[in-house]
Amino acid sequence: MTTKKIAVLFSGSGTNLENLFVKIHNKTFNGVRIEIALTLCNKDDAAGIEKSQKYGVEPLIIKHKEYPQREEFDKRVVEIIRAHEIDLCVLAGFMRILTPYFTKNVKAINIHPSLLPLFKGADAIRQSYEASAKKAGASVHFVNEELDGGEVILQKSFTRTKDMSYEEYEANIHKIEYEILPQAVVDVVANDRR
Ligand code: GAR
Repeated sequence: MTTKKIAVLFSGSGTNLENLFVKIHNKTFNGVRIEIALTLCNKDDAAGIEKSQKYGVEPLIIKHKEYPQREEFDKRVVEIIRAHEIDLCVLAGFMRILTPYFTKNVKAINIHPSLLPLFKGADAIRQSYEASAKKAGASVHFVNEELDGGEVILQKSFTRTKDMSYEEYEANIHKIEYEILPQAVVDVVANDRR
């Protein structure tokens, strides 16, 4: 049986990371076993660190603040990803803008909490809520040099009701993320989606 290794990069609470551990880690899809072989975080106080430890993977902490040049940070991360022989890198709340050095050298997908191409960048949930968008959702896309601009792999939406609170709206988006991110990983590594 083939094993495909993925790396998950995160910066914050790590709920998408935990969901990947639950749904796909060490499980087999279409004859391919998926292993989360590396988790990497750019902040030493991120809540996701404990989540990764809970599933037996000690995250590597690479603090971006220690790299004055954005590209130097990316070079270090790429070096680590290569050393672990990673087949696919998954950005799950990794709040760093990546340089072309990263995007040219690493095959990566990203989860973004909006219906791309709408509401790219930071704080997308708040932005779309305040714009009173009638439909909201999340997208998984391939990572390229354009921020949140690579080809969309999966996207799912819900219709916002008039009286929906921000908390309810945000919870709906996260629920969709927990469905589509594992599915997209499986599509790319086990079903050969390119
Ligand atoms: C997720 O909602 C993800 O879509 C978003 O950060 C959150 C991370 O939550 N990513 C972006 O906004 C990227 N531009 P988590 O740490 O609990 O998975």
